[in-house]
Amino acid sequence: MANVTKGAQLYEGKAKKVFATSDPELVIVDYKDDATAFNGEKKGTIVGKGVINNKMTNFMFSMLEKEGVPTHLVEELSDRETLVKKVSIVPLEVIIRNVAAGSFSKRMGVEEGKALLCPILEYSYKNDDLGDPFINDYYALALGLCTKEELDTIAKYAFKVNEFMVKFFKGIGVDLIDFKIEFGKTSDGTIILADEISPDTCRFWDSKTHEKLDKDRFRRDMGGVEEAYQEMMKRIGLNK
Ligand code: TMP
Repeated sequence: MANVTKGAQLYEGKAKKVFATSDPELVIVDYKDDATAFNGEKKGTIVGKGVINNKMTNFMFSMLEKEGVPTHLVEELSDRETLVKKVSIVPLEVIIRNVAAGSFSKRMGVEEGKALLCPILEYSYKNDDLGDPFINDYYALALGLCTKEELDTIAKYAFKVNEFMVKFFKGIGVDLIDFKIEFGKTSDGTIILADEISPDTCRFWDSKTHEKLDKDRFRRDMGGVEEAYQEMMKRIGLNK
């Protein structure tokens, strides 16, 4: 491990805990098996999810770094723990959609699975008390959630992440329907990709059968949740 020691817990979220380290610029994230949906209303456990999400996120972040998207990744420490750069999270859920599904299908009355003519970039205000409301660029700027320059950087990186991931997952027989990412700001003000990229935060459909290989199986009580997460690990080549 890098030359740091684990300190006190700083924060516990729905899926991860964050710990201080002896280096003020670094923290440790610890991925849990806890799963929630509908703003925490539905609660459960997906056995082994923490390990899978930790490893998949680090794998994706390492590849994205090579594609020119800076991330918070420093070093995987264990099955569930990763050393990352400390950031202040920009309170935006940054969503890209390639195919209609989920809240888009509900809101727009478009059948799930209908291909979109171009990718959609959308934002939600990351605020649990308000249920992460849908917002646009003007809301983000007017509320001071980030600056125009930061939003431009976020949008540029989000499309880059999408372009890379669509191709990558296509290569392993998976359609990337949509996903949510989050960005953080380091102490020197640099915007970097943070949080996670996992079956919790992406919709993955088998390219041929359209079988769901993501958290929708938990959200919608479809069964086979653990198996779907493991299948994604297997396809990526990360299974133990
Ligand atoms: P949505 O269709 O429910 O708005 O979800 C869009 C994408 O964002 C989907 O890939 C799942 C992901 N997502 C999260 O990562 N966290 C959330 O809290 C929600 C609602 C969606």
